[in-house]
Order: sequence, then C-alpha cells, then structure tokens
Amino acid sequence: MTVNQDLLEKIATLREEINHHNYRYYVLDSPLISDAAFDRLLSELQALEQSHPELITPDSPTQRVGAAPLRQFSSVQHSVPMLSLDNAFTDKDVEEFDRRARDKLKHAQLNYTVEPKLDGLSVSLRYENGVLVRAGTRGDGSVGEDVTANIRTIKSIPLKLQNKDWPAILEVRGEVVINKNDFTRLNDERIARHESVFANPRNAAAGSLRQLDSRITATRPLTFFPWGWGEISTTIASTHSQTMERLKAWGFKLGEEARLAQSIAACLDAYGDIGTRREALPYEIDGVVYKVDDLAAREILGFTSRAPRWAIAHKFPAQEETTIVEKIIPSVGRTGVITPVAMLRPVQVGGVVVSRATLHNVDEVQRKDVREGDTVIVRRAGDVIPEIVGVILEQRPQHTAVWQMPDKCPVCSAEVVRLPHESAHRCMAGLYCAAQRRGAVGHFASRHALDIEGLGEKIIKQLVESEMVKTIADCYGLTKEQLVSLERMGEKSAENLLFAIQKSNATTLARFIYALGISQVGEATAKQLATHFGSLDALMEASEEALQLVQDVGPVVASSIHHFFAQPHNREVIQRLRDAGVHWQEGQPATQHIPFANKTFVLTGSLESYSRDEAKEHIEALGGKVVGSVSKKTDFVVVGNDAGSKLEKAQQLGIVLLDEQAFREMLRSAAPN
Ligand code: IVH
Repeated sequence: MTVNQDLLEKIATLREEINHHNYRYYVLDSPLISDAAFDRLLSELQALEQSHPELITPDSPTQRVGAAPLRQFSSVQHSVPMLSLDNAFTDKDVEEFDRRARDKLKHAQLNYTVEPKLDGLSVSLRYENGVLVRAGTRGDGSVGEDVTANIRTIKSIPLKLQNKDWPAILEVRGEVVINKNDFTRLNDERIARHESVFANPRNAAAGSLRQLDSRITATRPLTFFPWGWGEISTTIASTHSQTMERLKAWGFKLGEEARLAQSIAACLDAYGDIGTRREALPYEIDGVVYKVDDLAAREILGFTSRAPRWAIAHKFPAQEETTIVEKIIPSVGRTGVITPVAMLRPVQVGGVVVSRATLHNVDEVQRKDVREGDTVIVRRAGDVIPEIVGVILEQRPQHTAVWQMPDKCPVCSAEVVRLPHESAHRCMAGLYCAAQRRGAVGHFASRHALDIEGLGEKIIKQLVESEMVKTIADCYGLTKEQLVSLERMGEKSAENLLFAIQKSNATTLARFIYALGISQVGEATAKQLATHFGSLDALMEASEEALQLVQDVGPVVASSIHHFFAQPHNREVIQRLRDAGVHWQEGQPATQHIPFANKTFVLTGSLESYSRDEAKEHIEALGGKVVGSVSKKTDFVVVGNDAGSKLEKAQQLGIVLLDEQAFREMLRSAAPN
C-alpha cells in the first residue's frame, strides 16, 4: 500500500478506536467489545504500521507493548519541583495545620479536598499539545529518571489526551500503583515460576516501573491515579477538585474515594470513614491527604522548602514493619496440630505491639524460607492476625539454617506425624500430651462419646489447670473433696458429677473408639471400626493394610489410627481407663468383608510378577497373614521358582499349594471391586 489519504485516515481511525476501547476498559472499567475483537483491531493497526514504519508515532496504541531495553535511564529535570508532604499523625496535628492555614489566609473556614494517600510511586507525565512526551519519577524532587517507555505501557494513562481543550503544556502528577488483587496474582505467578516474590504492592510497582526493559513493564498490572499537576501553560480551573474533573475529561482515571470537606472536622470524619474501608479498597493506602481546594488560597499559603503549606498527609498506623525473627518454635495446639510460630523482636504494627506471628505449617516456612535470625516484614491489617510477608534476604546473617519440624512433640516427646495429603504435622499422643489435655477430656466427655453430664468446658479447664486431671483416665479417680475445691462447685453438683463419671464407664466399643479423639476418626468411622474389628485389641493391633479393609477407611485414616495406637503413652491411658472400669460389650469381628481372614500363607521360591514384599502386602491387604515357616496351621503355600524345603514340608503336611497363576487368580477374585 502506498501512503495515501485513505491509509492515513484508516490508521487514524484505528488509533482512535483502540484508544477509546482502552479507555473504556482500563479507565471506566466498562468495556464495549470483547478482548478478541480488541486484539483484532490492534493487529490490524500493527500490520499497517509494520508496512509503513515511517507512520509510527509515539502516541500510537501499538507503542504500549514496550520497546528495546535501555542501558540506563536518562534523567528528567522537573520544571516545577516535585515536593513532598508534611505528615500528621494525630487529630491535633491536623487541627494545627488548619489553624495555621486559616490564620495566614484570615479565613474563618476553608474547603478541603480529601483524597486517599496512595502507597505507590509518584511520577510526572508531560503532555505537549495533548501528546504524552515524557514521564519522570520523582527522584530527588528536581531531577528524576526518564521512565517514558515504561509509562507508555500503562493502559490507564492516555498517550493522547481526549477532547481538544487541553493546554499546550500539561504536566499531570500522580501515583503508579498495583491493585491488591493484581499483586496477589502477580506473586502467585512468580511463585509458580520459582521467582522471588514482591514484599508488597508498592515494591512491586516500583520494581516494575524501574525496569530497563519496558517489555517486562508491559506485563505488569500497573495503574495510574493522578493527584496533582506540575507545569500548566494556561489556567484550567480555580480549584483542585475542578482541575481533577478536567483531568478526568481528558481521559484519566480518578480514585473513587476523593471528596470535598467544608471544615477540618469534616476532614477528620472522612479520615475515619476511609480508614474503616481501607481493607476493602482495591489499592493500598497509607493515609489520607487534605488539600486546600481553592487554588488562589494555595498561592498565598505557598511552600516550605520541602512541602506545600496547603496540604498535609494524615497517616494511618503502619500495617507493615520490619523486625527480627528471634526463634521459630513449634507450638502444639489443643488438637495436636503443631504450628511453627515465629517469635519476633517486639515491634509496633498497626497500633499494637506484635511479638509473634504464625507461620501456619512447614510448607509455608519453606515457601517463605523464614529462618531464625532473619529480618522479616511483618504485616497486621485490621483485625487480622499478624503475618510474615517475607524475608529481607539482603539482611540475612551468615550461617542460618533452614527450619525443620521436630520429629518428637516438643511438649510430650511423642511421635510427630504428617498424614498423607495433609499440610499439618500432629503430635500423635492425643490422650497423653499436656497441650491436648483440655481438648481430649472435653471430647471424651462429649455427648456422642462417653457422655459425661456436667463435665463441661469450665470445669475441665479448672481440672486440667490444677493438674487434678492430666489424662482422661484421671477423671475416674476424682474424689468429692477434689471436686468441691473447684470454683462454683457445691457438694450436690460434685456428687452428681461423680455419679455421671461412674455411670459413663459402661459404654459401647463404637463410643469408646470415637471418644479417643483419633484424628480423622469421627462417629461414623468409629462405628465401622467397632463392627469390623469387634474388639479394641483387634483394632489396636491392626496393620494399616488391615485397617483399609474397613469401609470408608483410606490410607490417611488408616495411617492416623495406626500411629495413634503406636504411641505407648496412648496405650497406657487406654489401659488405665480399662483398669478404672470403663467397659463395653465386645463382639466377633465381622469377617465377611475380609476374604483372607484367619488365613495363613507361606511364600516360597521366587515369583515372576511379585516381589516377596509385594506378595505379602497383597495378602495382608485382604486380611491374611504371612508367616515364615510351614506348619499344620498354614492354610496356603505360594510356590514360586526354585522352591526349597518349605515346599517339601507343605507336601508332607498336605497343605494347599498355589502356583503363581493360582495365587494371582485367588488375589483377583478376593480383591474388593
Ligand atoms: S499531593 C507537593 N496527593 O505522597 C506534593 N500526594 O508523601 C503534593 N501521594 O510524593 C502531593 N497519594 O507520591 C498527594 N492523594 C495524594 C497522594 C500523594 C499519594 C504521595 C505522593 C507524594 C507523597 C508525599
């Protein structure tokens, strides 16, 4: 195509259309066309520009994808310095600011604009004849870095101002931010790619804007909100709020929380209101800014060397601080779950002193790679429990070690187990561990367990704290004297409670199993286990394979039960309960579900498709037992290649012999479908 009027018009129309759809999508949040339709327009324009590179202009929407990397940023001189703001931390600070301004102006009252103070990065965007020509960071206030290529990638920034009534020179100033949900997504993506995460949206925004390769910036979800201006060639309004409205008409996106206040008291109300909505806002804010709205009044008030006298930032309590992890301790909760807790050098965050933060579980400690001695960022937002956002790796001391979960419970030294597919580690001595006493006794006494009426939370708390009850078995040795010594416990209630405890000792196996509080074993599973095994001893001796034969018991539940009974301390408590008279009717195991129940196998010779261990596992999974030598009690001998003396013995005793094929078929027909 040669350059003719049609082509020029086509390109201009496409640019306008694309700019408009960008604006609808990124500024107004109300797109008119699908992403695919948008992409088609952009590709069309890209194709035309590719065949006529001489027609590419810096304000073309194709220029938002980023350009070749820079070696370094050049600097920009701000024609009007980018100053800072004074901070107010108390209402009194704010009232004094207002009084000073009114005194100087000799006004009884002033109108203020109240805006959220966005926690991002300030930039100044220079438009000449409606086109974005340069963008600089604040830098030292007079000289910043030229980040034009990066700024062009931010879709909520117009490359070309809308309408035609803009001044020939317009410098728009504002904050580049990353919204909270975009930040979370960005970090999740980085975790998935094994890249380091950003500590907070501000750092992410700063890191993204200070990329020498603007093609990287183009992939980051940056947004821009104007809060002021620098050089303007003609007067455009007489108040701040009107100026902002004009910026909006030229295509900028304004934050929604800005409002006018007609007194400093109204400003403080707005502070409270925005503060309560802080968590719900899409972006991070660290306070609000009060600005005298009238621009003529601003002229009179002027500036100090570092900040305007017509504005002040009223800060919220910081939600993030840095501190040091002095220790990471495994903390055993009431249900036996062990949580790593970071013990911190105490620090004020969000208005309260924080000295510990949960790290949830081992995966979390490893994901964040928090170590003892590390300097970390602690965050406490609203009522949320303090959390460690991340580690400042640059400040990590030498010789730190990766934190490990102990393999013994720090409270009772029992085994610590992480059940399959669980994120939590648990202490397995639920009946014995001091950390779990209250929970264990409460559960044992509960209605669907041993149903001890009158043994409620408050009494349990006293019994446990006074150490009258260390394990549930101690309940059966309580005396009336001990009980009446408790708060609000009269003789009559003590007698009633003793009676209820005595009465509870006649129970059922299902209730007793449930009452043990084995992780993963609820009432329904307890019933299944009771029916299946018929006796507590059979349950206590069952292998994980045998446990899995019970309906609804999978590997996780089986592992939990097995580990529970493997703890000698749990067994001791169970024995003490039985000695104290807790009893139930035992039945016969329900054998119909166990194809190889009571069957004894001997393996001899080598099988082709099973190793010894595999064959053994298969047999045990179906309820059978594998023993080492042949006797009269042996039911089957599985005979592989090169079988030896065991085969002879079996033949002598007339025991059923299974070759590999017969064995395989037997397994197949016995296996549950
Ligand atoms: S007005 C003359 N308004 O806070 C300076 N600043 O601590 C006028 N900021 O550098 C600044 N939100 O980066 C203003 N609504 C807001 C703001 C805001 C965030 C930043 C800005 C400024 C810093 C001062």
